[in-house]
Amino acid sequence: PESRSFYDEVGGADTFARLTHTFYSEVAKDEILRPLYPEEDLGPAERRLRMFLEQYWGGPRTYSEERGHPRLRMRHHPYKIGPIERDAWLRCMHTAIAEIDSQTLDDEHRRALTDYMEMAAQSMVNSPF
Ligand code: HEM
Repeated sequence: PESRSFYDEVGGADTFARLTHTFYSEVAKDEILRPLYPEEDLGPAERRLRMFLEQYWGGPRTYSEERGHPRLRMRHHPYKIGPIERDAWLRCMHTAIAEIDSQTLDDEHRRALTDYMEMAAQSMVNSPF
């Protein structure tokens, strides 16, 4: 193909599955984040984050087929997200990104992914405390 997406460049479905799986195993251990998740089973939430990220980075559009327009800020409204929750979320995500090897994710792609996560987490903050 003449233009590969970021999704393809970083290893496609396998990479996003590993990323979100590590992320949610960190959430499961996190005493700030874990209580925010309404369901006992984190599997469905893991799948939604995976599909969203795949779509965002140019992969399959399954997220919107199933969930419609992302409207992520609105979907996070029920949860109090202040600086503490944001930092906890980013801690889990930084761990997940760090677990992807440098063959799969070179420095430039790693930087782009990390910058995006930091921006996105900040944009989800809906409480000053
Ligand atoms: C859903 C917490 C940031 C993407 C959720 C849910 C919680 C949550 C509790 C509900 C679980 C579920 O049913 O899916 C947080 C917290 C954040 C944060 C505390 C801290 C800043 C983000 C960011 C993204 C994101 C930065 C994207 C890059 C999603 C997606 C869903 C979701 C795609 C499922 C939405 C749906 O289709 O219903 N989040 N989140 N979240 N979150 Fe977050």
